[in-house]
Amino acid sequence: MQLIDGKKVAEEIRNELKLKVDETREKTGKIPGLVAIIVGEDPASKVYVGMKEKACREAGFNSRVHYLPQETKEEELLALVEEYNKDENFHGILVQLPLPKHIDESKIVYAISPAKDVDGFHPFSVGKMVIGQDTFFPCTPFGIVELLKRYNIETKGKHVVVVGRSNIVGKPVANMLLQKKNNANAVVTVCHSAAPDLKKFTLQADILIAAIGKANLITADMIKEGAVVIDVGVNRVEDANAKKGYKIVGDVDFAEVSRKASYITPVPGGVGPMTIAMLLSNTYSAFKKNENI
Ligand code: GUN
Repeated sequence: MQLIDGKKVAEEIRNELKLKVDETREKTGKIPGLVAIIVGEDPASKVYVGMKEKACREAGFNSRVHYLPQETKEEELLALVEEYNKDENFHGILVQLPLPKHIDESKIVYAISPAKDVDGFHPFSVGKMVIGQDTFFPCTPFGIVELLKRYNIETKGKHVVVVGRSNIVGKPVANMLLQKKNNANAVVTVCHSAAPDLKKFTLQADILIAAIGKANLITADMIKEGAVVIDVGVNRVEDANAKKGYKIVGDVDFAEVSRKASYITPVPGGVGPMTIAMLLSNTYSAFKKNENI
């Protein structure tokens, strides 16, 4: 079994980007910029946004974060997005989800200029992805495809079984991997919570992608010998021995499944760090395109 070290690959990608940013800054005096907007007090969202900001700064990007109060009105958020659509110093706009209930999330996502949609959540980006055109790909699925690529894991003709159908992971990763392209061209099955017999599907997977948000759902009896296992789950489970009283585990029973898998991503340190690396990659692409570099 080989461990897929997402932390290491993410670091490589961020270093590659830093070199490109340094070179471009010396030549043109310009650097990529990312603005993140967060509304409310969700602690997990604050941690994620803090990590994104740190990664941006380390790679030499311009980074700004707006922390808006929970009671921010939809119109105020729309006005801020509009301001950054016009601001030439910022090439990517990220509005951290979820938003408070009184704000219509899709209205905000629609308001982001597709040219700055580095999350790849705008329906324009989603549509282009589905029809196989180049666009911004959502960062977590993009990170999964990049990991498979960098570990030389063949996808052409392989049966990929995705467990989970979220707009952020399941649906986009299934779409990306079925395209008739390099590092894709797979036969893809998408399963979800309504599947009557999940095991029947997962046992057929050459590559299993678990993104359903249920701790240790995927057990060793559910996978084929030699399968590649990608675990996107981030689940808190109680742990009396941990300082905080909990630990983070994936959707896969790592201890048992890793005995049968040919490759597997750990949690933490697998897919997670790739999300931020690909966000920087998308922001750099937006910068290059916008500045004609
Ligand atoms: N919430 C959870 N994941 C993400 C993400 O990748 N982008 C944004 N904007 N919000 C999220």
